This record gives sequence, structure tokens and C-alpha cells, in this order.
Amino acid sequence: MRIERINTGTSPFDRSLTIEFDSNSKSTFDWIFLRDNCLCKECIHPETKQRIFDTFNSLPFETVRDKDGTIQIINDHHSKVRFECNNDTLVSLWQDGHISHFPEKWLLTHSYAPQLYKDIHILPSKISWDSTSFLQLKADNFRNSYTQIEKNLPRVLHEIYTYGFSFVQDVPVTLEATRQVSELISIIRPTHYDLGVWDFTSDLSKKDTAYTSLVIDMHTDGNYWYELPGLQLFHLLEHSNGEGGETRIVDICKIVDVLISLSKKDRSWKTTLEVLTKQPIYFHQAGETDTCFQQDSYPTLTLDKQSKLVQCRWNTSDRSPKISNQSGFLVHQVYEALFRFNALINDPKYYVQFQLKPGTILVFDNWRILHARTAFTGHRRLCGSYLTRDDFLARLRSLSCERSQLLNNL
Ligand SMILES: [Fe+2]
Ligand SMILES: [Zn+2]
Repeated sequence: MRIERINTGTSPFDRSLTIEFDSNSKSTFDWIFLRDNCLCKECIHPETKQRIFDTFNSLPFETVRDKDGTIQIINDHHSKVRFECNNDTLVSLWQDGHISHFPEKWLLTHSYAPQLYKDIHILPSKISWDSTSFLQLKADNFRNSYTQIEKNLPRVLHEIYTYGFSFVQDVPVTLEATRQVSELISIIRPTHYDLGVWDFTSDLSKKDTAYTSLVIDMHTDGNYWYELPGLQLFHLLEHSNGEGGETRIVDICKIVDVLISLSKKDRSWKTTLEVLTKQPIYFHQAGETDTCFQQDSYPTLTLDKQSKLVQCRWNTSDRSPKISNQSGFLVHQVYEALFRFNALINDPKYYVQFQLKPGTILVFDNWRILHARTAFTGHRRLCGSYLTRDDFLARLRSLSCERSQLLNNL
């Protein structure tokens, strides 16, 4: 590694240096970026890994705007800086006497002009499934036992992220054991329904169809909240003197794959995909007399830049009548798209249906997996929890690789 060029401009914001790492890799670093990211223990707390150096208040740059709007730097105390390369470390001697050391590895993994490293994927890749591939998945995975839950936990988290769901077997048929498993996976999210593990029968104790024995269509929970619950966990405690109540799940990652492939072949499906990703839909929860949730409207599908699913929000029974015209779609286009989406998520090619059993926990990604329940008779008692997404992801990240790798990737 060597310093190829030092570019001294007239303001702290146009000074940089170019490092040559080897004959075919060079990258340029702004001085301000280097000073902002000094790695010493006066600048970064060694234990909390937080910045202590207050860049924006401590650096003695004062800027004023001229009448014509041009920014003028006054009081520029960082115009004279010395840089040296010692043993694969870049040393910066700042004008105020502060010294920073940047190891070659750090410079490479934080390079940006150009970026010289490949993005590191800490989290596993997602694998979408349909009703056929589900059978194979089921045969090869989900051998997680409550009796060895601490040992099996990394696999449970990994499966939830990869496939959108996982099972834990041999769980004592109690609320306490359900709470234990919930808290190993993440943090239980309290809601107006319940403050911890919920436990319900079809007694309509809350004014929501989930508390009835009626059929419940494919949906995600909590579409009327800003924060859609990250994960959901179900544990059937009892079902006696009756039948039905089967659980149905579908993978929206697969549905997105299907929609993208159809939209490439057919113009009307292209519009359908656009409606599903742009047309905001309103939801409400207004059955209780002392609350009314109706926070905002969201598209059915939120996709990332690579057209991969970020979040699905869908529950036709919680859908409000209001329809937004902000997206510019005609109402019949919106309805056509919703009918088509409904047909796909209810196509037996894509969904699977099974009976939950006491002793087996089903945990799934509420941003990705839609769930439904068939109508039932008899006495059915189900418990479960909503789990926060951030804590699940933070735990999965920690279990997926060495701490040092995580810290180097900040
Ligand atoms: Fe639900
Ligand atoms: Zn420092």
C-alpha cells in the first residue's frame, strides 16, 4: 500500500488522498471522511463501539453563505495535514495534533471511490417455496426440539429467515413453555389485545374474527399498525369435541416470483404488479369501543431495488372502504390486481394446509408468510405471540458469524 496522490483543495470538503493498494486497485478517501472515522479510543468507545468524537461540533470548520449562496469556509484549521504509510497502516497527523491510524484492511473494507470490496452477506439467502417444494423442505428441515432448544436455536432463526417459517417440536403444552420459546427467538411485542403471550378461544372476547370459529382468509396480522408485527408464533393448546381449524400458509416471496415472471410476458400483469407495489390500501381495527387503529395506507407488496419482497400487507377483512387515487390507477385496475393477487395466494399450487398439534410451535415471518385458518367446531384453544423483527434479526446476525466479522462490516 502506498499514497499515490494527495489532493489539497481549498476547503475541507474537497481534499482527498488516493491510496494504491496494489498495481490494479486504487481508491480515494476524503480527508473529512478519514477524520470523521478515526479508529482511536478517543474517537470510538472501545466497548460500546459508538462514536465519542463529535465530528459536527468538534471539527473547527465554520461555514458562512455568501449573498449568492456559495459556501465559504472560515476558520479552516485542517488545511495542513500530514499523511504517511507505515507498515500497511495509513497514519494521519491532523493539524490539531490528533493522530489517526487506518490499517490497510480497514481502508479496503471502507473504500468507496471506488468500492474495492464485495458486499458481505451476513444473513442467509431466502429460498422461496410452493406446495410441492414445501414437502421436500419439511422432510429435510425443522428438526428442532424444545428439549434441545438452546442448541437448536441458531437453526430455528436461520430457517425462519430462509424459508419464512420454522417448527419447534416436543414443547410442553403450556403458556410458560410457549413464552420461553418466544423469548429465545426475539422479544414479545405487547399489543392492545395482550401484553405478552396471547391465549384465545372462540369466545369473541376481543371484537375480531380471530376470536371466532369462522373461516379466516389469507392475511398478515396488524396491517392497521405502523409496525407490522415481525414474526408470529402459534401453539395449539387444545382442540376437543370438533374438527377443522386447519392452518394454511403461503410464501409471498414465491408469489412475487410468479408475478414478476407473468409481468414480463403480459402487459396487463405488468399493471397488476405495479398496482400491487404502488397502490396504497387502507386497513382498520375498530371493533373495540376504546380504540380505533387506522394509521396509514400501504401498498400490498413492498419490494427492494432487486425486486425482492421486503413486506407484504394483506388482510381483506380489515380492509377499509376508502380508496386512494394518488397512484393514478383506475379503480377497475386496482380491483383486477387484488382479484389476481387473491387468486394466486389461494391457489393450491402455492399454499400448504396442515393441522397444528399441541406440542408443536409454528413460528413464521409476518412480513412474508400469509396465514389462514379453516372454520372449526368444538373447543379450540390457541396461544402464541407477536415477536419484534429487529431483535430476531439482531440475534440471527450474531449467531451467523464471528463478532469481529460483524464489527468489521459496520
Ligand atoms: Fe392472524
Ligand atoms: Zn481519534
